[in-house]
Amino acid sequence: MEPYVRIFDTTLRDGEQSPGATMTKAEKLSVARALAQLGVDIIEAGFPAASPDDFLAVQTIAIEGGQGPYAPSIWGLARAQKGDIDRALRAIERAHKPRIHTFLATSPIHRRAKLRMSKEEVIDRIRAMVAYASERCGDVEFSPEDAGRTEVDFLHAAVGAAIEAGATTINIPDTVGYTQPAEFGAVIAGIIEGVPGARDVVLSVHCHNDLGLAAANTLAGLRAGARQAEVTVNGIGERAGNTALEEVIMALETRRDVFGLAHGIDTRRLYPTSRLVSEVTGMEVQPNKAIVGRNAFAHEAGIHQDGMLKHHETYEIMRPDTVGAPRTELVMGKHSGRRALQSRLRELGYELSGDILDHAFARFKALADRRKQVTNADLEALVRDEVEQEAEVFRLAQLEVTSRTDGACSAKVVVEGPQRRHEMAATGSGAVDAVFNAIDRILGSRFELSDYQLRATNGGSDALGEAHVRVRGREGRTYRGFGSDQDINVASARAYLSAQNRALAAEGAIDAPRKEAS
Ligand code: KIV
Ligand code: ZN
Repeated sequence: MEPYVRIFDTTLRDGEQSPGATMTKAEKLSVARALAQLGVDIIEAGFPAASPDDFLAVQTIAIEGGQGPYAPSIWGLARAQKGDIDRALRAIERAHKPRIHTFLATSPIHRRAKLRMSKEEVIDRIRAMVAYASERCGDVEFSPEDAGRTEVDFLHAAVGAAIEAGATTINIPDTVGYTQPAEFGAVIAGIIEGVPGARDVVLSVHCHNDLGLAAANTLAGLRAGARQAEVTVNGIGERAGNTALEEVIMALETRRDVFGLAHGIDTRRLYPTSRLVSEVTGMEVQPNKAIVGRNAFAHEAGIHQDGMLKHHETYEIMRPDTVGAPRTELVMGKHSGRRALQSRLRELGYELSGDILDHAFARFKALADRRKQVTNADLEALVRDEVEQEAEVFRLAQLEVTSRTDGACSAKVVVEGPQRRHEMAATGSGAVDAVFNAIDRILGSRFELSDYQLRATNGGSDALGEAHVRVRGREGRTYRGFGSDQDINVASARAYLSAQNRALAAEGAIDAPRKEAS
């Protein structure tokens, strides 16, 4: 039998550390459920000591995120400090298989500049804190942070101390994405060979993508004997991100001849999970992203298309349906029914029913009446907008904009609030500026715009406009919003309102949006 590789997903912890990728508790829970369906072995649900919100999110996932014999185990991250470990233990105490992941940096630059600790102090702390965690939780993972830049003999000493103190998993992070695949493979092989007890624990790899080598390094580590891969969906994470789950899995699948390793992932859930994570984090997947990018299975050049028509293996090493990517583009039009829409949306990763499906269907029909064909990109834009509106307390009811070439634009906005309708007019240096000013006046908003982007779903003038907005709240937290419409002012107004709703709810100024509260 092939050796098994545990998939440790850290989308909700390291992934959420991507600038602007903050998720609400309800969103984290929906991602945790999708990860359980995908078949990951472990979910690192968050860093409970980081904030009360993080604590609550980890606790909620521990209770509701996965129960039953095949449910993933839920882990909480803790610095190698008693306070952090206690907090993480409290957050995960009701999880089906609770685990603690604790870490301490070991590289010279971290010891000197960040921790101000000697080598001896670092080893003593590792021993003490891994023992402390092990006495309270049977399963403990230890990570020597920045292992990739740690002296080999000291790394061995740190790993040895953690094993002696009771760690059951040793994770080797290339925290800053510095190492090269052959080097990283040698680090793992060196630990297996050189550290007493290393063969009795699970060795894990955790790579960052600063040089674009995260997946290559992870795979090198697995080839060298690691049996756990720490990954995130779409590769989101600090700076250039973490190893992408989908890339590692499809490399293991497609090159079983090279790796000979088994895993528990249902590859057909890769694409829908990728869409969900992109939607809730507001982080778009680059079109040429391996496995889950919009172009990952598109063939443009005539010579390629000709080859594909003769035999798909000429230019495809995997089939789109293996990863759950939609097989067909286009052909949704005004004759398509509600069920056809529901099934296409399911292929795209959206499970819709009831009122929200009815609304999406009505908007789809209206669009299909104006256009011959509605593409997957249109459907995604439309449905994302519907999902956003569903959760909102303040919604756009009406909009009137006057644009002028001299830049003096004005907007009249009507917003439906929880108690009543609000109407306000404002001017601005452009149409969108005027719309946002009017919304600010209605909400008396204190959240400043930090990012605004507009994109069309296709190259035609009848495309849907997709607006992405971020506003800045307390302590530099940002809240995203999304809106789509054939009128770009309407799309922008919806996106701005959706970000403001999120910020107001998260910072306690209004009741949680409906989705959050349910
Ligand atoms: O990259 C890193 O070193 C980490 C640790 C907490 C494992 O994320
Ligand atoms: Zn990391």
